[in-house]
Amino acid sequence: MKTVIPVGVLFSQTGATSVIEKTQLHATLLAIEEANGLLSTHGLEIKPFYMDPRSDPFLFSSMSEKLIAEQGVTVIFGCYTSISRKSVLPVIEKHNKLLFYPTLYEGFEFSPNVIYTGACPNQNIIILAEFMFSKFGKNCYLVGSDYVYPYESNRIMKDMVNGFGGKIMGEHYLSLEASHAEFRPVLDDIAACQPDFIFSTVVGSSTAALYETYAQAGLQPLTLPIASLTTSEAELASMQPFARADHFTAAPFFASMLKHSPVPSWQQLATHTSEVPINQCWESAYFQVMLFAKALVEAGDIHTESLLKVLRGMEVEAPQGRVRIDPDNNHCWVYSRIGKSRADGDFEIVKESKRTVRPDPYLMSYAISAL
Ligand code: ACM
Repeated sequence: MKTVIPVGVLFSQTGATSVIEKTQLHATLLAIEEANGLLSTHGLEIKPFYMDPRSDPFLFSSMSEKLIAEQGVTVIFGCYTSISRKSVLPVIEKHNKLLFYPTLYEGFEFSPNVIYTGACPNQNIIILAEFMFSKFGKNCYLVGSDYVYPYESNRIMKDMVNGFGGKIMGEHYLSLEASHAEFRPVLDDIAACQPDFIFSTVVGSSTAALYETYAQAGLQPLTLPIASLTTSEAELASMQPFARADHFTAAPFFASMLKHSPVPSWQQLATHTSEVPINQCWESAYFQVMLFAKALVEAGDIHTESLLKVLRGMEVEAPQGRVRIDPDNNHCWVYSRIGKSRADGDFEIVKESKRTVRPDPYLMSYAISAL
């Protein structure tokens, strides 16, 4: 006789950010299937209840309410954009449930009801800014999507550029559905003012429009590349090969690591690249299910307080290396890495931390201790 544990799954299959959320959905369902193999020996089974919020923050909120009220879930795996997370947060907190959030974000948040498994700014933006300053220069042009993550991340990048004596040469925000035609005047302005690099906080399907318009404008990544935290293998796969190469992304994990992994089961994961482009958000979505499965066994019940008690400080082997939930802030200790994009859609790692970096969501320090 098995105890069935219902969980909610909220990732979009349509809309502006489905390009990346589809990969998070794939990883979540795959990891649940794998976890169930192990959980069956403990008489447990995770049963996912999936809803498609279609990249709409209002649907994220109403569907999380529905999953809790109608399916009785204690845990939801979900959200890519920070607006969708901020829409789900009041629901999760009101009902004292748990959200596992597998996406890099802008930091400056703590909810006792969220386990944050993507990178926060001290784990990605600091290493990226220092790398770009040392290789290309400190004059930066900011291009982002029009919502909270880009505004907040650009605030941090501006502090760093100004603090190191560089200049912000321009700043533009476009809609999540921005077209090639909408990016064109921005790229023309960049060509005219010649910064040392572009910092892109563009997300979702408009990422392809940005990189393709950049290439069509004749800009050269060898002298004026795009640096990003959100352009992963999923966004590279969505753009034309001519637009992909020689740009930089900071992330805890790149899919190219799987092929060379000393762990045979991680090498096996690379076979799933025929189904979806594996990327940093796929990896967080994958290992956070492993954390939950481990917590379920250790806690012995599905109450929020019991799960949180064992999750704080919990470690798990992940494809990026061993990761850990910080017991003080619910964010994850992850690696800091920089990848250089290639025309084939993969990244070559050009810099990485020796160890996982402690999460500092309120950015108390701009130093990276583990480099
Ligand atoms: C994001 O909105 N956290 C990418």
